[in-house]
Amino acid sequence: MMLEVSHLVVDHGKLRALWDVNLNVSEGQRVGLVGANGAGKSTTLGAIAGLYSAAGGSIVYSGEQLVHHRAPDALARGIVLVPEGRRLFGEMTVRENLRMGAYSGRTRGTLVEGLDKVFALFPVLRDKQAQPARELSGGQQQMVAIGRALMSQPKLLLLDEPFIGVAPILVDEIMAALATIAADGVTMVLVDQNIGRALRFVERATVIQNGRTVLEGDSATLLTDENFATTFMGLD
Ligand SMILES: Nc1ncnc2c1ncn2[C@@H]1O[C@H](COP(=O)(O)OP(=O)(O)OP(=O)(O)O)[C@@H](O)[C@H]1O
Ligand SMILES: [Mg+2]
Repeated sequence: MMLEVSHLVVDHGKLRALWDVNLNVSEGQRVGLVGANGAGKSTTLGAIAGLYSAAGGSIVYSGEQLVHHRAPDALARGIVLVPEGRRLFGEMTVRENLRMGAYSGRTRGTLVEGLDKVFALFPVLRDKQAQPARELSGGQQQMVAIGRALMSQPKLLLLDEPFIGVAPILVDEIMAALATIAADGVTMVLVDQNIGRALRFVERATVIQNGRTVLEGDSATLLTDENFATTFMGLD
């Protein structure tokens, strides 16, 4: 197993956000993390990426127990987060935003290759590289956010709601790019509010509710599971 999150507990100040989250991801796999607003999806990704400390449970990555690791520790191991809401620097150019992904020791000296790879995946960004990021559409900004993550040479890519605010036609384009990245050997955890869409992309999914893992299975099984459909997708 590349990533084993077991009985993870995370507090935001006095508020317990995660009570018991379990998430297993094997190398090269695409895994979905789904659940309602406030379920704890972003907190889970943030804990793996070193933004939040665990108050209990464990995160084991490539056989190593990560204890109170910080974001730079995660990055150094190839754990890269594409955050909810993209978090670009709007006044900075597309190219400058992409460069932000390549400042760590692991990626030094690979700037040109990195940019070429991003522009091959998202050709529109090559034309817009000198423009401030805020001038791009939502979907193009998401491409920049994913591109910036690629510049960090991820082994494990954590994607938090990458399709929010993205026009449908660009959703398909971004999903195709993610499939290419996955085919390149990058392991992925995808958080998506649209569970049906997530299950078409991932191989397995974990459902969390109120900070707890309540269901886990392969996508085909979950899609045909009646309980899952009624409980989590609002279908009858
Ligand atoms: N920085 C924070 N400070 C305090 N509470 C927080 C913080 N971030 C999240 N929370 C709370 O922790 C719980 C889990 O939030 P989280 O953002 O992880 O959920 P989510 O599943 O990503 O939701 P969404 O679908 O809205 O993105 C919620 O009750 C939320 O209000
Ligand atoms: Mg969230």
